[in-house]
Order: sequence, then structure tokens, then C-alpha cells
Amino acid sequence: MKIAVLPGDGIGPEIITQALRVLDVFKSEGMKIEIEEALLGGGAVDATGSPYPEATQKIARAADAVLLGAVGGPQWDNLPRPQRPERGLLGIRKDLNLFANLRPAVLYAELANASSLKPEIVAGLDIMIVRELTGDIYFGEPRGITTENGKRVGRNTMIYDEDEIRRIGRVAFQAAQRRNKKLCSVDKMNVLETTQLWRDVMNELAPEYPDVELSHMLVDNAAMQLVRNPKQFDVMVTGNIFGDILSDEASMLTGSIGMLPSASLDENNKGMYEPCHGSAPDIAGKNLANPLATILSAAMMLRYSFNDEASATRIETAVKKVLAAGYRTGDIFEPGTQKVSCSEMGDQVVAAL
Ligand code: NAI
Ligand code: MG
Repeated sequence: MKIAVLPGDGIGPEIITQALRVLDVFKSEGMKIEIEEALLGGGAVDATGSPYPEATQKIARAADAVLLGAVGGPQWDNLPRPQRPERGLLGIRKDLNLFANLRPAVLYAELANASSLKPEIVAGLDIMIVRELTGDIYFGEPRGITTENGKRVGRNTMIYDEDEIRRIGRVAFQAAQRRNKKLCSVDKMNVLETTQLWRDVMNELAPEYPDVELSHMLVDNAAMQLVRNPKQFDVMVTGNIFGDILSDEASMLTGSIGMLPSASLDENNKGMYEPCHGSAPDIAGKNLANPLATILSAAMMLRYSFNDEASATRIETAVKKVLAAGYRTGDIFEPGTQKVSCSEMGDQVVAAL
């Protein structure tokens, strides 16, 4: 299994180091993993002038999976748009055709107080949002700001064809099959034709997955239900713009940015795995970051790209053990628990494994 590792900027290298230590445990037990590191983001701009340099493109395309830290930082904020670190991120997503973004929102029992919602509403929350990532109003044409009859007009186009909907639908149905077999498709079919098609295609797919119970919900109601009774959901699937908003909303139910992994998959389950948070320049280089989101991203990599459910579960169980034993990085610290550094958190996960 060839893994392209892109540490990126800020805390990226620190959290990636801990995830690699976890993978080393499996390697020492005989798992065949080959790792190749490459540049992405601000560091890549400094070294080559491009946030997604050609050397990185080659390594990422040849790999079976990509493990990414985070990119960006204030020192690159004034660069022209094409050179900004975020362009590297958009560039690699587009280049690898990563159309399916999987974001679990899990609230570990030990962190129930981290949520802004009452523990009885969120404790034990475990949902997965599947967001389409390469289509919708973010990419539709025509777009832009024009002047028409002396007035400025802003325009974006919401567009999906049935193939795009079908392929994200399949990823979502399959994710539901691996979990609790409940899939809620989110749309706005009462006013948007694009999402009427979305609902039709989801209904057409349903007979292929008879073990999954498919339901539909309008996006405004879904936003409400996520804060009213989030545990009613298992897997949710939606388009790019609704998914952007709902996945951020869902992640905040867990209250802990340092805990949330993500996967972005192509049609062959080649994927890029990264924490949901950014490069945290405020704590970079201080060995303070929470590496668990990145370690859990490595678990998702084993599950989705390498089809190794057992090893993925083993990592997730080790993380639960470490939390149950009371170890916390600063972002999830509470009185009565033991504060540890980024590398000490890595030590604990490796020991638990
Ligand atoms: P951020 O997620 O980097 O940080 C927000 C807050 O959460 C900060 O206080 C930070 O210290 C804390 N935090 C984040 N991750 C943490 C971790 N693992 N452990 C402990 N605390 C953690 O978001 P922000 O500050 O808006 O962006 C910083 C930079 O990161 C910007 O340049 C931004 O463009 C970039 N960014 C990159 C992303 C990516 O690479 N996928 C995603 C989001 C932002
Ligand atoms: Mg967002």
C-alpha cells in the first residue's frame, strides 16, 4: 500500500508525525506500507512557487491513498490567489477527482461536556455526513459578476447531472451498509429542481441496497434536527453547498475540532485523509496540538482505501482507551483530566495499540 504523506504547514508536521507512529505499529506487525512524503501548501509555495508542485502531483497520483496534515498560515495570506496554500488543497482534490467527502461527527462519552448541547441530547453521538465535493453551485457555469442594464448582477449555477448524483449516492449507501443501515438524503426539492433530481436518483438507487433504510429531509429541517435530536441520524448524504454547511454544523455538536477526521474518495476508493481542522498557526511548533483527528484519519484510510476494517477499529478503540484513561491535549482539557502534549498523546495511542 503506497501512501503519499503531505504534512503541510503549521501543526501539520507535528500531527502527521504522530499518525505515522501509529502506522509504524502496523508496519512492525507486517503490514506492507510504503510512505513517500511530499510538499503541499505554503511550504510548497516557498520551495517551488506552486502550492501543489509537479513532484507532489506525481507522488499523489501514484499513491493508493494520501494522508494530509493541514495547509496555510498568515505568512501566505497576501499571496495572489493562484499561489495561496488553499489552492493546493483545491488543486489536489480536483486532480484526484475526490468527489465524495465523508465526515464523521462522533462525540466520545468522555468528552460529552465539550459539546454546547446538553449531554442527554448528544452523548454517544455517532453520525456520518457524506458531502458531494466536486459539483453543485460551487462549480456550475455560468458564474460571475456582470453588469447588465447598468446594474451589477451576481450569478452562480446549481447543477448536477444524474451520474454525479448516482456516484455520491452509491458511496453513501455503502457507508450506511458499513454502519447502522440508515441513510437520510438531504435536499430542497420543494423549491430547487436540481435537488428534485437528487431525490429521484436516490430513490432509484434504493432497491440496490435493500438492507439500507432511505429517508429524505429538506435541508432547513435537517439543520434544525441536527441541533434538536442529532442522534436520529446515522448517515446523511447531500450536495456540495448543503454539505459544507451541515457538516460544519454537525462537527460543532462534538465541540472538539481536534478530534474530527475526514475522508475524500474517488470512484475507486482511492482517498485523501485529513483532519477537519486547519494548520492552527497559534499553537504551531509548540507540541500542543491534538493529533487524534489525524490519527483517526489514518484509521479511515485503512477502512476505506485499504478495506481493513479490523485495523481501523483497532485504532479507534485505542483512541477511546486513551480518552477513558483521562489523557487530554489542551483543546479538550477539563479539570480532573491529565494534560499531555501532542507527542505524549501519540505515545499513549501507540501504547494502547
Ligand atoms: P484552525 O482549524 O487552524 O484553528 C482554529 C482554532 O482551533 C485555533 O485556535 C487552533 O489553535 C485550534 N485547533 C485547530 N486544530 C487543533 C488541534 N489539532 N489541536 C488543538 N487545537 C487546534 O482554523 P483557522 O485558525 O481559521 O485557520 C488557520 C489556517 O489554517 C488558515 O491559514 C486557514 O486557511 C488554514 N486552514 C486549513 C485547512 C486545511 O488544511 N484543510 C482547513 C481550515 C483552515
Ligand atoms: Mg466549510
